[in-house]
Amino acid sequence: LRDLISIEDLDPSQVLAVLDTAEQLLPIADRRRNSVPTLRGKVVCNLFLEDSTRTRISFDLAAKRLSAEVINFSAKGSSVSKGESFKDTALTLDAMGVDCVVVRSGSSGAPLQLSRYLEVPILNAGDGWHQHPTQALLDVFTMRRHLGELAGRHVVVVGDVLHSRVARSEVQALKLLGARVTLVSPPTLLPPSVASWGVEVAGELDAVLPDADVVYLLRVQRERMHRAFFPTSREYARVWGVDERRLALLPEHAIVMHPGPMNRGVEITADVADSDRAVIVEQVTNGIAVRMACLYLLLSGDADATEGSA
Ligand code: CP
Repeated sequence: LRDLISIEDLDPSQVLAVLDTAEQLLPIADRRRNSVPTLRGKVVCNLFLEDSTRTRISFDLAAKRLSAEVINFSAKGSSVSKGESFKDTALTLDAMGVDCVVVRSGSSGAPLQLSRYLEVPILNAGDGWHQHPTQALLDVFTMRRHLGELAGRHVVVVGDVLHSRVARSEVQALKLLGARVTLVSPPTLLPPSVASWGVEVAGELDAVLPDADVVYLLRVQRERMHRAFFPTSREYARVWGVDERRLALLPEHAIVMHPGPMNRGVEITADVADSDRAVIVEQVTNGIAVRMACLYLLLSGDADATEGSA
């Protein structure tokens, strides 16, 4: 695999290779001021043309813990803000000799376009409504750590599926690993193509929670939606939000996940977000290990990912 642009490009063995490599790297991701020399001499460029906290910082840390040099590039403060084209930006990075570009963009398809301009590996850090492959990989990694193998497990994905690149990647990754997926969404926030996704669609959240191993809450993406299509925050919280009452409907082993950033009081109450059933903070830590694994697998040979660990 040359690039990581979409979960659709992966087969189950490639997903498992990322998860197993991340498992090896987790102690390094989790320990501060520690690193392995695996990517020494490589230059990773983080090209973030849309806002991010978790993904940007964790790719930065992931590259540093593999001893790569990191260039953090955002539209603000660069010549992109003066109108420089995506192609010219890409060719400029190429001329600087970067070894890999991690790209986030509000435009679906931007990472694929970049991969046509550049020979170096491209990692998609989220593009428009299309894909967020490393989010899905860190999520299935987190689920596997709590639940074991995911084949036959039931994941309930709740919320704004229509605008969610996370939902698209998540469903594909879960299906590659044999999990069963149920979507619960306001009808206006389900994509027309959902019939071809190979998932179940349920109208009532309460009805599916007792049978869930994971409830995965999507962020309400107000910045991507027309107000006319969206219920009020209060109605959303009442019908599709998870509160203490709904938490009690879940089996005892089930976990609550969210990709962040959360709208507390809308898709999740503060009590649930801060409860010991929520693994949302752990998802963030796991994201460093999973992004280390992705960088390692795309940029390195087949040596032990932790070789030379300090
Ligand atoms: N989950 C996620 O992509 O978060 P950020 O937008 O903060 O990177």
